[in-house]
Amino acid sequence: MISVIIPTFNEAAVIQETLRRAAAALRSAGEEFEIVVVDDSSADGTAERVESLAAEVPVLVLRRPGRLGLATAVLDGGATARGDIWAVMDADLQHPPEVLAPLAKAMREGADLAIGSRYVPGGGTSDWTWVRRMISRTATHMAATVLPLNLASVGDPMSGLFMIRKSALENAHLNPLGYKILLEIIAKAHYRKLVEVPYVFQEREKGASKLGARQYLEYLQHLLRLAVGTGQLWSWIRYGVVALAGAAIDIALFVLLVKKAVWRPAPALLLAIEVALLNNFVWSETFTFRSTRIPAFHSAVWRRLARYEGICIPGAALNCVVTASWMVLDGGVVSAAAAGVVAGGALNLLVNIPAIWRTWAGRK
Ligand code: GDD
Ligand code: MN
Repeated sequence: MISVIIPTFNEAAVIQETLRRAAAALRSAGEEFEIVVVDDSSADGTAERVESLAAEVPVLVLRRPGRLGLATAVLDGGATARGDIWAVMDADLQHPPEVLAPLAKAMREGADLAIGSRYVPGGGTSDWTWVRRMISRTATHMAATVLPLNLASVGDPMSGLFMIRKSALENAHLNPLGYKILLEIIAKAHYRKLVEVPYVFQEREKGASKLGARQYLEYLQHLLRLAVGTGQLWSWIRYGVVALAGAAIDIALFVLLVKKAVWRPAPALLLAIEVALLNNFVWSETFTFRSTRIPAFHSAVWRRLARYEGICIPGAALNCVVTASWMVLDGGVVSAAAAGVVAGGALNLLVNIPAIWRTWAGRK
């Protein structure tokens, strides 16, 4: 049975339509289900509207004494739920309830975690402005950068619309904070098959968003806590040490070749960068990602090398441009090499971390 968990905080205007459409979607998909609404003492009568629909839809309300947060609402709802699958969705129709049907289908077909996703082909965000799009993408990219071992291959880890097999949550020690319970689940649950089902995030037509500054702060706090809790911080420290060594090799070799061996700067820099990349690759293989043991690790080593070099091309190119410009402007060989490394490294850090880590770690 599927237990649909719907957290509400002042959603009286929409909750009945949400319940009707969710029930219709699951009925026509032939699923057995119950709905648990977790209401945080909404002042607008949300809970009463839910109860008045109980004859029509299998639904019950869990009332909590005040606004206690979205993530904890999901877990409290789950504790009451009787199903072997939890479905989680918003009450405000921004998650079209009809998506429950393809999510349920994915679970029937063996998924342990099915995510309603805006960022896979077919998904989207209706008519968001580019600013909103960018904020959402940046927050998603940030999660994949801080937690690459878990999130680098998930399109929409920030989704609030998903289904999870309850058995995958045993011993997962979920520690909810703020809004993004799915982050917690992806990082800690024991699931084998993860599937993303595309959907288009709708505009909110009634009521107001409950997302504010506090939720943004809690999000950052949550990412850091997961980095520590999943042990990813240690991978990050290993990665950082290797990257610093690579940077030192790049600078030292370049300076040596130009000053002592009197090479021209261009071939010297290309060789220095390549040696640094090979250094980073070897240590990534034998040290940084040695203990993460993921399936990708068993592909051919030359494939990983080719992939890694390919991902590093933009950073290397930027390194070359900055080093060359610096030498023209300033002339200092050491400072030019250092500036180039910093620029290339910054590009990798800001943009490429999820892709780089996926060479060794991550699903598929
Ligand atoms: N019980 C309870 N307690 N419910 C809450 C609370 C709370 O403290 N805060 C929010 N909710 C409920 C809202 O009533 C709504 O049903 C749902 O949680 C989402 O809240 P919104 O304020 O509408 O969130 P949003 O539209 O900014 O963001 C949503 O969409 C994202 C993108 O898919 C959230 O669901 C995110 O989880 C989701 O990732
Ligand atoms: Mn919403």
